Amino acid sequence: MVDLNLDKTTGGEVRELLLQLLGSTFALYLKTLGIHWNVKGGNFHGIHMWTDEQYESLQDDVDAIGERIVQLGGRAPATFEEMSHLSQVQLVREFRDTSAMLRALADDHALLVRLARKISQLAASASDSGTTSLLDSFIQSHEKLIWMLSKSIE
Ligand SMILES: [Fe+2]
Repeated sequence: MVDLNLDKTTGGEVRELLLQLLGSTFALYLKTLGIHWNVKGGNFHGIHMWTDEQYESLQDDVDAIGERIVQLGGRAPATFEEMSHLSQVQLVREFRDTSAMLRALADDHALLVRLARKISQLAASASDSGTTSLLDSFIQSHEKLIWMLSKSIE
C-alpha cells in the first residue's frame, strides 16, 4: 500500500480516535434506527420520516470513517463486539417519551461532535488534511442536526 507519508505517532493516535468515532457513530445509527421503528404518538409520521434521513446519513458517516481508518493503514472493525467496545454512545432499551428520544439524539450528536473536533485538531497537527476535511464536514452536518433536534424539543 502507498504510504500517505503522515506523522507516524500522531497518525496512530488519529486512527485510534477514529475507531472510537466509528463505534460511536455506529451505535448512534442503531439508536436512531430504533427510534425510527419504535416511535409512537401524535408526532409519529414526522419523527419516523426525519429519523429515516438521519440514519441514512449516519450510515454514510460510518462508511466514510471506516474507509478513512483503512486509508490510514488501520483495520476497520465490523463486529458488534468491537463496535460496542469502541462506542461512547449508550444504547437504551426504551425511552420515556418522544422528547426523551430527541433529547438523547441531540446529546449523542453533541458527543460525536466533541470527539470529531478533538480528532480534527490532532489530524491538523499531523498535516492530515484528508482527515480534517472529512471531519469538518462531519462536524458541520452534526451541528446542524443538534440545532434542529434541540429546537424541536424546546
Ligand atoms: Fe424505515
